Amino acid sequence: MKNIIFYYTGTGNSLWAAKKIAEGLPGTEIIPMKSIAENTLPHETDITGMVFPVYIWGVPSPVLDFIRKIRNLKTGYFFAVATNGGQVSNALVQLKKELASEGISLSSGFGLTMPSNYIPFGGPGSRETLDAIFRKAEEKIKLVTESVKGKELRSPEKGPLWHRLLFSMFYRMSFSHVNVMDKKFSADSRCTGCGICVKVCPAANISTDNGKPVWLHKCEQCFACLQWCPEKAIQYGEKTAGVDRYHHPEIKVSDIILSGKSRL
Ligand SMILES: Cc1cc2nc3c(=O)[nH]c(=O)nc-3n(C[C@H](O)[C@H](O)[C@H](O)COP(=O)(O)O)c2cc1C
Repeated sequence: MKNIIFYYTGTGNSLWAAKKIAEGLPGTEIIPMKSIAENTLPHETDITGMVFPVYIWGVPSPVLDFIRKIRNLKTGYFFAVATNGGQVSNALVQLKKELASEGISLSSGFGLTMPSNYIPFGGPGSRETLDAIFRKAEEKIKLVTESVKGKELRSPEKGPLWHRLLFSMFYRMSFSHVNVMDKKFSADSRCTGCGICVKVCPAANISTDNGKPVWLHKCEQCFACLQWCPEKAIQYGEKTAGVDRYHHPEIKVSDIILSGKSRL
């Protein structure tokens, strides 16, 4: 019996967190959620975890799709870590309900504040800000790992009630529009046609026309295309041209390409 941590990521924060937790839990394999298809799950695990980003104060749709594939998973302990830019809000409460509807009980749920990759709200912040966030995240990961090792039962971490009520409404309102929000993406004259955006997209949502990216309206809003473009040539609306890009400094573009691949 072994431990597994499943992860979903656009810019590497969740992969980094999954790796760090796995380092402290001997016998743990980390597996991209995207690589799992029904019937390809291990039969039984001791500890199972999920690490994923908070999107629009809730659980991203690819993570919800993943939960449908692990129905009735047999595990001794199930934990979740929701990486976020400071507002975990209702994501873990929502996750607990979604898991329960698939016959899985969430043993513990942790929010982990990381740099925000949501560029429409601005860049990730200064080097000092980032370093402070990473230091705090390392400390929190130690606590999470110890808690998981001890199989502690903990209610999912959550934001204040007013916040959860209000922002859950925004989540529900935005949910059906996420796929087509890619209408705001464009590539400017700096685009060299390198194709990295195509490769890092976990939704296979980008094709090319004369070497330039074209978005196909099945976007998951992970911002990997924009954040990993080596030329900063991909923009979202009018305001991102001069804004710093972000991806986790210890995660490589090749890790992200692998993370989005299906095993089938
Ligand atoms: C579409 C989108 C929506 C987001 N919404 C939230 C949010 O509601 N609350 C929050 O704290 N961070 C939010 N973020 C920031 C991410 O949750 C955070 O940066 C996360 O660690 C990114 O993980 P990744 O690097 O594994 O993709 C959002 C990011 C994106 C791309």
